[in-house]
Amino acid sequence: MLLRELDTGVVGAPMAGGPTTPELVAAVGDAGGLGFLAGGYLTAPALAAAIAEVWDATSRPFGVNLFVPEQANAYAAPPGAPAPLTGAHRAAAVAAYRERLVADAETVGAQPGEARPGDDDDWERKVDLVVREKVPVVSFTFGLPSSAVLGELRRSGIETVATVTDLDEARAALEAGVDALCLQGHDGGGHRGTLDPVKEPTNLDLVELVVSVRAETDVPLVAAGGIGTRERADQVRAAGADAVQVGTALLLTPEAGTGLAYRRALGDAAYAGTAVTRAYSGRWARGLETDFLRRHDGEAPAAYPEVHHLTVPLRRASAKAERPDLLALWAGTAWRSARAVPAATVVGELSRR
Ligand SMILES: Cc1cc2nc3c(=O)[nH]c(=O)nc-3n(C[C@H](O)[C@H](O)[C@H](O)COP(=O)(O)O)c2cc1C
Repeated sequence: MLLRELDTGVVGAPMAGGPTTPELVAAVGDAGGLGFLAGGYLTAPALAAAIAEVWDATSRPFGVNLFVPEQANAYAAPPGAPAPLTGAHRAAAVAAYRERLVADAETVGAQPGEARPGDDDDWERKVDLVVREKVPVVSFTFGLPSSAVLGELRRSGIETVATVTDLDEARAALEAGVDALCLQGHDGGGHRGTLDPVKEPTNLDLVELVVSVRAETDVPLVAAGGIGTRERADQVRAAGADAVQVGTALLLTPEAGTGLAYRRALGDAAYAGTAVTRAYSGRWARGLETDFLRRHDGEAPAAYPEVHHLTVPLRRASAKAERPDLLALWAGTAWRSARAVPAATVVGELSRR
């Protein structure tokens, strides 16, 4: 099992939307970590091109992360879980939120995007692709694939990893037959990988989460969220994780594709902290607390991917204008320790060696 054999005990998180590049994945791998390409938001041909670049750049193994769309999610929420927004209610809530974004969009000369309900992120073609390419490790976020998909990957010699955020989700993923778990704590940057899209984020400490899952299983555990120092990485590994997965710590590395306005914001003392919000995508995610986040936080419906598509043009125009105002500045609570040093330095500093 690759995840158990990593001497460094460091995994480079997949970061969809630009920060993860093939160069970053190769650099993390060459430094003795395991890099992950972010398959989310990409079409299958774009992901195929990125996979080919990584194969060309390094002989080290790597992983690919895929978003599981609602229609392919085999996770069944426990009885009593909050009901998802559906049908006409959902469409009306998305349309109302779209109206609320118009004034912000105008500040960057854009309009909110179209909602694209039911967009499946090119799921089936990307599953076929990772099987065909025999990508060494495939991790999943936002849901559990069916046992048929997991079986197909296993027969191709691919290690499967499910991202989960609490013990119940961990149990469901193990029952579904994944090979390993990525435990994501509440301090982490970017989207919470809750299997149930409407579940409120928990405040469980990452160490507690690792201890509780380790007590029930021997499978490889990767732990993610708010890890910015060797001390924290060692604590999480000592609690039972085979490796730590870091995202924010890699955002300022030269190999990352993080845009200029995003990089500047991460070093800007004016940002006081991070917050968890649905304002950018309709799913909970942690980022720097922007004015946009504060104004729209309570307004966004639990409707992913529709809300994501509404805000895409605002975020693109903001990035193009090199303005941070409308960007989703995803960052974990340890964002102040992120530095503009090579990815190999980050892996070395967090390594257990
Ligand atoms: C910019 C950004 C994008 C992310 N995109 C993804 C993604 O595509 N898939 C995924 O599984 N996790 C994604 N994550 C979450 C990471 O996998 C990981 O859980 C998180 O970065 C860990 O917390 P940290 O940022 O404090 O290190 C993203 C995180 C960030 C910061």
